[in-house]
Amino acid sequence: MLKDSFGRVATDLRVSLTDRCNLRCTYCMPPEGLDWLPKPELLTAEEIARLVGIGVERLGITEVRYTGGEPLLRRELIEIVGHTAALSPRPQVSLTTNGIGLARLAEPLAAAGLDRVNVSLDTIDREIFKRLAHRDRLPDVLKGLEGAAAAGMLPVKVNAVLMRGVNEHEAIPLLEFCLERGYELRFIEQMPLDAQHGWRRENMVTADEILAMLNAHVELTPDDPVERGSAPAELFLIDGGPARVGVIGSVTRPFCGACDRVRLTADGQIRNCLFATEESDLRAAMRSGASDEELAERWLAAVRGKRPGHGIDDPTFLQPARPMSAIGG
Ligand code: 5AD
Ligand code: SF4
Repeated sequence: MLKDSFGRVATDLRVSLTDRCNLRCTYCMPPEGLDWLPKPELLTAEEIARLVGIGVERLGITEVRYTGGEPLLRRELIEIVGHTAALSPRPQVSLTTNGIGLARLAEPLAAAGLDRVNVSLDTIDREIFKRLAHRDRLPDVLKGLEGAAAAGMLPVKVNAVLMRGVNEHEAIPLLEFCLERGYELRFIEQMPLDAQHGWRRENMVTADEILAMLNAHVELTPDDPVERGSAPAELFLIDGGPARVGVIGSVTRPFCGACDRVRLTADGQIRNCLFATEESDLRAAMRSGASDEELAERWLAAVRGKRPGHGIDDPTFLQPARPMSAIGG
């Protein structure tokens, strides 16, 4: 088991498949993009398969989520998902995507064994989308959402980040959009993970503010916490249910104490936290001939050293050197 010194057990593996993206969301990367990882530094599909296999078959990983950058840009995605779903015991396989290209890929991904998708959607206004993501791609995202629902990956989940002065007025329009289509919406507090280091606490729309906006419009009742387990979203039934909305207070209501996640970056580093300052290099070990046993040992050691919390609210907090797109969401 991937157990840390505080007794938390990591069962949820998030794997970044590429640091590249076809959008430029301001909370993530600058409009001109970033210096992408050179191809030889990326794990190959075979290397990903090997490491994910070790995680699932030796280390107790029960859920594998593929992320990016934008994971749909990775050409071997369908094979990677198929391989993951064929592991034993079979893990849950999910994807966090910006939705561009999902209209075409949802069906083959579902057929390969993808169980669920989270699609990022911060606005339903095309002009605001252009300003926020620096690309005029809202129609592609909306088609992607429809494709995911049509392929039966239900409930389709939508992640939204609100930013002051940009889309903070869209909490209710986003909620209504999702309710009409049966998508499950989650708001995520903006975290200091952008490559430009432009995050300011005062610009963050907090979980309390989001809940106040929602409460003024619908009646929220906390959903059964037993069901929630270690999932970070505080879930609420809308007007008595069954529709739900989630609020993830990553900064103001940290859930580090119940964290069950571990991350593998696109270049093969184990990170025990989004905000970790250290990584453990499985790629180098693997490429110099380490056995599965040795890789598992390294991975266990990396998780053992996990810190109790991210400390974003601490004055000594240091933003990680690598942005979200390189770490994986
Ligand atoms: N803060 C909060 N959420 C973020 N995401 C990307 N960057 C940030 C950030 N700085 C979201 C994306 C996506 C998920 C992987 O995380 O919108 O839904
Ligand atoms: Fe791309 Fe996701 Fe970053 Fe937006 S948040 S630029 S969709 S990787």
